[in-house]
Amino acid sequence: MADQATFIAPPSNVHAVAVRAVRHYTDGLFAFACQRPASFRFRSGEFVMIGLMGETKPLLRAYSIASPAWDDELSFYSIKVPEGPLTSRLQHIQPGDTILIGKKPTGTLILDALTPGRRLFLFSTGTGIAPFASLIRDPETYERYGEVILTHTCRTAPELSYGDEIVAAAKADPLTGERASAQLRHITSLTREPHALEGRITHLIETGALFEALGAAPLDSARDRVMICGSTEMLADTKALMLARGFQEGSTHEPGDFVIERAFVER
Ligand code: A2P
Repeated sequence: MADQATFIAPPSNVHAVAVRAVRHYTDGLFAFACQRPASFRFRSGEFVMIGLMGETKPLLRAYSIASPAWDDELSFYSIKVPEGPLTSRLQHIQPGDTILIGKKPTGTLILDALTPGRRLFLFSTGTGIAPFASLIRDPETYERYGEVILTHTCRTAPELSYGDEIVAAAKADPLTGERASAQLRHITSLTREPHALEGRITHLIETGALFEALGAAPLDSARDRVMICGSTEMLADTKALMLARGFQEGSTHEPGDFVIERAFVER
């Protein structure tokens, strides 16, 4: 029987849900999924506060939702920080454990924050790929854009596995498979190991190596729309490249040519 004296109920602004699956990719990266509470609605690409119950109150951090809005499962992709207050504990969760999920998803990496265009570029580094895992499995993405180009830059090859899997899942899914197979491109680059394409995304854009690899025309604000997710420095540098190319930043209130959001890394 539970010890009633030490049980602290989670507050009313979070759902308590059971973990369904956990998958470890590297020593520093893992993904987990839980059932979506019936009342929980969000737009593909948004983030939400998630976490665990602390000794007296919940310990919550912002996480992008890595599953699409139609899915009955909510999935997340996380780093493991040995000394991190949340991820040092969260990395040990098992199926059946309880996690807390905030009731107010939000964020800028949503289709409605962009004006219409022909090509959609999704630039990500590290766990910044998570919101794009959601968007590439949403049929609406392919209805709005003829071409969807997902780039993922990491330090080493094992860190690319999650992206390979979600792209394969988008191409195999009955809802998105046909369109993703025809419209989705996945370009990976590494910065600390040899790879077919090497270097930061900023470097690949500036040198044109990205467009050479794609066999496609360079960025043009008349036709291209862009979403960016990575570290604070990556966002600043990539955003500067967009502004220099005449792209206007959008928001949920005023759609534009590009939007940014930081990958939520615990400090
Ligand atoms: P690099 O290895 O040259 O630092 P992190 O894990 O530090 O967030 O890095 C993830 C990826 O993002 C790495 O490949 C890293 O390259 C790259 N990166 C780091 N800073 C920037 C930046 N300012 N602009 C573009 N890419 C960056």
